[in-house]
Amino acid sequence: MKLLYEGKAKQILEADQPDQVIIRYKDDATAGNGAKKGTILNKGVLNNEITTLLYDYLKTKGIPTHHLKTLNDRDQLCIKVAIIPLEVIIRNRFAGSIAKRLGVEEGRISPVTIKEICYKCDELNDPLINDDQALALELVTKAELKQIYEYALQINRELCELFHSIHIDLIDFKIEFGKTSNGTILLADEISPDTCRLWDSDTQERLDKDRFRRDLGNVEAAYQEIAKRLKERMGF
Ligand code: C5P
Repeated sequence: MKLLYEGKAKQILEADQPDQVIIRYKDDATAGNGAKKGTILNKGVLNNEITTLLYDYLKTKGIPTHHLKTLNDRDQLCIKVAIIPLEVIIRNRFAGSIAKRLGVEEGRISPVTIKEICYKCDELNDPLINDDQALALELVTKAELKQIYEYALQINRELCELFHSIHIDLIDFKIEFGKTSNGTILLADEISPDTCRLWDSDTQERLDKDRFRRDLGNVEAAYQEIAKRLKERMGF
């Protein structure tokens, strides 16, 4: 299989059909835009599994996604899209970069759902931008941006409900969208403990990549716990 692209946590491989790709989940972990590097045992397998469960759930709620089917424990067959160079971040509570930037204690509940967008550009360290800047850079059209925010807020509502039912607080998450050859916008990339902050509702224990970023230990066990609770909830 021909390698089309290699990112920090995934490879994109050629598929049989020209409008499809295979996404392979790796165990490599980075933080701070590559400043910290490591591997998390079985991370690729767990993130493939968790993303599949979450995408299958979101599909039942009417969210269009690039995911066609999961092929094995590391690979997914997906619709080929051009990734829109925006990281869309939704926050229900203050944590991570926003807590630091605005001097707010981690964990404080926000009275509003906070939407952020970052320009996906490694050389610039993915800077936070506003809507006008995204339009000025022609990263998206106004209509596309509106659609992206609508999907992002719906995804937040659906995922908050789902995680609540397994005693997890969804603190924040990052998603990405892609465009098919006919211009349809699809949810793309992964949704996993690499891209979400997930805290146990009772203990507030972090069950996400902050365990790696902050050297808290037990990273694989945290990802396994998320997979286990999701599978139980979904009847596997
Ligand atoms: O670091 P920050 O607080 O801005 O992250 C917000 C959310 O977005 C977190 O859930 C984090 O895991 C996710 N994120 C990501 N990829 C990035 C930046 C943030 O998945 N490059």
